[in-house]
Amino acid sequence: YNRQRLLVVANRLPVSAVRRGEDSWSLEISAGGLVSALLGVKEFEARWIGWAGVNVPDEVGQKALTKALAEKRCIPVFLDEEIVHQYSNGYCNNILWPLFHYLGLPQEDRLATTRSFQSQFAAYKKANQMFADVVSEHYEEGDVVWCHDYHLMFLPKCLKEYNSKMKVGWFLHTPFPSSEIHRTLPSRSELLRSVLAADLVGFHTYDYARHFVSACTRILGLEGTPEGVEDQGRLTRVAAFPIGIDSERFIRALEVPDVIQNMKELKERFAGRKVMLGVDRLDMIKGIPQKILAFEKFLEENASWRDKVVLLQIAVPTRTDVPEYQKLTSQVHEIVGRINGRFGTLTAVPIHHLDRSLDFYALCALYAVTDVALVTSLRDGMNLVSYEFVACQEAKKGVLILSEFAGAAQSLGAGAILVNPWNITEVAASIGQALNMSPEERKKRHRHNFHHVKTHTAQEWAETFVSELNDTVIEAQLRI
Ligand code: UDP
Ligand code: G6P
Repeated sequence: YNRQRLLVVANRLPVSAVRRGEDSWSLEISAGGLVSALLGVKEFEARWIGWAGVNVPDEVGQKALTKALAEKRCIPVFLDEEIVHQYSNGYCNNILWPLFHYLGLPQEDRLATTRSFQSQFAAYKKANQMFADVVSEHYEEGDVVWCHDYHLMFLPKCLKEYNSKMKVGWFLHTPFPSSEIHRTLPSRSELLRSVLAADLVGFHTYDYARHFVSACTRILGLEGTPEGVEDQGRLTRVAAFPIGIDSERFIRALEVPDVIQNMKELKERFAGRKVMLGVDRLDMIKGIPQKILAFEKFLEENASWRDKVVLLQIAVPTRTDVPEYQKLTSQVHEIVGRINGRFGTLTAVPIHHLDRSLDFYALCALYAVTDVALVTSLRDGMNLVSYEFVACQEAKKGVLILSEFAGAAQSLGAGAILVNPWNITEVAASIGQALNMSPEERKKRHRHNFHHVKTHTAQEWAETFVSELNDTVIEAQLRI
């Protein structure tokens, strides 16, 4: 049978390109939850449209890259350096990202940010139009066009202007904040209106969807209904579609000989110690300094644990051109250095901090040998790392300490120890609770989470969204 054609549009392609020569490129898997989840989606005839993460000013390079990407069913949008600076580093990652995660604008250059707002917003719109142009080149009648994330809030409007019959969905991978936060954005109304041009708008949780609808009613004065948002008889459907992972892929990975060997080595390396694990992009929303300070407090108060526990923190470098991220990197290094100086010995340190990414198999081995995973996001759309940890813990049944401000708290809350990451005393206490937890309780908690992770997959998430989008379009035609 004919699989439905799906155009997935996201700022970041699943692969990022590295130039090896004038016309030769190598492709690496991109980091982050959006890419991970969408890689688990297999039921569609899908093509990806997005940015390959590099500036390619010359035609030879663009041609060669387009060809290399085509093998991965990817279609590039070429953004020049200035646009990337203003749209991606500027408007997306310095304004929308911190605001949607309730962190406010960067403290130090707040006024400068406010001043450059208009030009960055103009670049944002221009970039979105460039994505729309590429979509329209590749669009065929009947295709579903699925736009992703805060980078592309302008895209639904551009697409509908190009062709009002296009089936357009938009999904946000971050939280949508309270309307009181969204209200502070100078471009608040324009952004909402362009998203509303989509047929279906999706969020990870019911709370985010509710925030979006109330932003539309309070800021735009539109009518919110249980179905979504209505504007002069036209309905934009709004709903929650909690994302998941390809859990079988993780479970299968644990049977690969290399992974088994790697697990054995890790166990020997950390014999006699409990392993605690953090895996995050090095982003301020992840609460990495707070996590490390809580671990310090735990060591301070529990001298007997000092040579019996180790914290492995994988900090994947991200958005390294944005000054706030550079500051965070040095801040984290400083704290780690201080604590290792304080509690380390000649032969061992309490914190192993890695500023790099891991390949999939190395990551699985690490998840599997972990006793306690620590997710301390200050805010997080969902947080897939918590799902991946659970998927790899069938043998060990380790404990998940999870921030109540991650979307995942709503799905894994019953099995995890939920914490307020701002409360270092509470997180330190939960580390003690996790390390001392009885096997029976661990088993009970794990069973709950494992069941959830196995039954709510990325595949099912995508199928539900796309079929809801198809239905919404049919219903809208019936309304006319
Ligand atoms: N991840 C990665 N490279 C690494 C370590 C992790 O790509 O070296 C993946 C991880 O497996 C997960 C994703 O990055 O799928 C992070 O997703 P999450 O939802 O936890 O957070 P996000 O990065 O999207 O904010
Ligand atoms: C989060 C966002 C994604 C983004 C990823 C990595 O997961 O929701 O849209 O791709 O972070 O960030 P980057 O700026 O490197 O694309």
